[in-house]
Amino acid sequence: MSTRALLAASAAAAVVAAVLLRRKYRRGVAADLRDLIGGTPLVRLRSLSEATGCEILGKCEFLNPGGSSKDRVAAAIVAEAEASGALRPGGTLVEATSGSTGVSLALLARACGYRCLLVVTDDVSDEKRRLMEALGAEVELVPPAPIADPRNAVNVARRRAAELGAGSIFCNQFDNLANMRAHAAGMGPEVWRQTAGAVDAFVMSAGTGGTLAGVSAYLKRRRAAVRVYLVDPPGSSLYYRARHGVAYCAEQQERTARRNRYDSLVEGVGLDRVSANYERAAVDDAFAVGDDETVAMARHLLQAEGLFVGGSAAMNCVGAVHAARRLGPGHTVVTVLCDSGARYMSTVHAPAAGAPT
Ligand SMILES: Cc1ncc(COP(=O)(O)O)c(C=O)c1O
Repeated sequence: MSTRALLAASAAAAVVAAVLLRRKYRRGVAADLRDLIGGTPLVRLRSLSEATGCEILGKCEFLNPGGSSKDRVAAAIVAEAEASGALRPGGTLVEATSGSTGVSLALLARACGYRCLLVVTDDVSDEKRRLMEALGAEVELVPPAPIADPRNAVNVARRRAAELGAGSIFCNQFDNLANMRAHAAGMGPEVWRQTAGAVDAFVMSAGTGGTLAGVSAYLKRRRAAVRVYLVDPPGSSLYYRARHGVAYCAEQQERTARRNRYDSLVEGVGLDRVSANYERAAVDDAFAVGDDETVAMARHLLQAEGLFVGGSAAMNCVGAVHAARRLGPGHTVVTVLCDSGARYMSTVHAPAAGAPT
C-alpha cells in the first residue's frame, strides 16, 4: 500500500472511530439515531454450546435501530463522505439495494437531513418496495440485468449519483471500504471486549464481505491465532474461492440457478464475484450450508432459545456448530445474528419452508 493510500485509510478509520466515540452518551441520552447504532449484546446460544462443549455466542445485530448490522455500514459511509466533503447538506444517498442496507440508508437519511434514492430490480416484492417508500426513500425500479448492461441496478445507481452532482454520493457498499472499516472499528472491538479477548473463532457469511473483512482484520491484529470461517449458501462462489482460491460455483456455471443469481432461500448473502471488501477478508476456511439445515436451525433457535432470526443468522449458526466441532470442546466461537426472522415470514419462517422447489 502506498503512503498516500495508508494515510487516506487511517484518516477514514479515524472518522469512523470518532463517530463511534460519540456513542459515549451525555448523561445517558443518545444524541440521535446514530448514537443508537452498534454496541449490541453478545448472547450465549445455550443449546448449541451444550451440544458442542464450546461457548457459541451470537452478536445481536438485529437490535440495531434499523434492525440489522447494515446500520453500522450506512453510518460509516455517511460519516466518511461527510468528512471528505463528498456529501453535503441536502444531498442524496444513492444505492442499489432492496435489502437491509436500503432500510438503514433510508432511516439515516431521515435522521441526518439527506434524501435517499434506492435503485431496485422490478422483481422486488411489493412488501419490500412499500417498506422502503414508507421509510422515506425514493425507489427507482429497473429490470434485472447483468453487470455489463447499463440498465443494471448498480450502474443506474452510479449514474444517478453522478447526475445529481456534487453533494450526493453513490454509497457502493460492495466496493466502498468504509463498509469494512465500520466493522473493524465497531463489531471487531466489541467482540474482543465482550469475550475479554477469549474468542477462538469468528464465523460469518458474506453479502458484501464487509463484516468478514473488518472483523477478521481487527481480531487477527489482536491475536493472529483467531480462526475466521466463511459460511456460504448454495449458488455462491465464495466457498470454492476460500477452499481452492478460485471464485466458482457449479450452479452458476451451468446456469441452473432457480432464484435470481442465487440458488438459495437465504437472502442478503452469497456472492458471484470478489468485491473489494471481500477481497480483504482473512478467511481460514469455509463451510457450505444448505437451505434445509438453515431452515431447521432457524426453527431450532426459536424453539430452544426464543431467538427469532433471519436466514443468514441461522446459516451462520450452522457454521458456528461446524467450527465448534472442528476446534473441539473448550473453545469460544462467535457468530452474527444479522437480522430478525420477522423479515422472512414468507421464506425461511413460512409454515412449509424447506428445501427450494
Ligand atoms: C441479512 C443479511 N445478513 C448478512 C449480510 C452480510 O453482511 P456483509 O455485507 O457484511 O457481508 C447481509 C448483507 O447484505 C444481510 O443483508
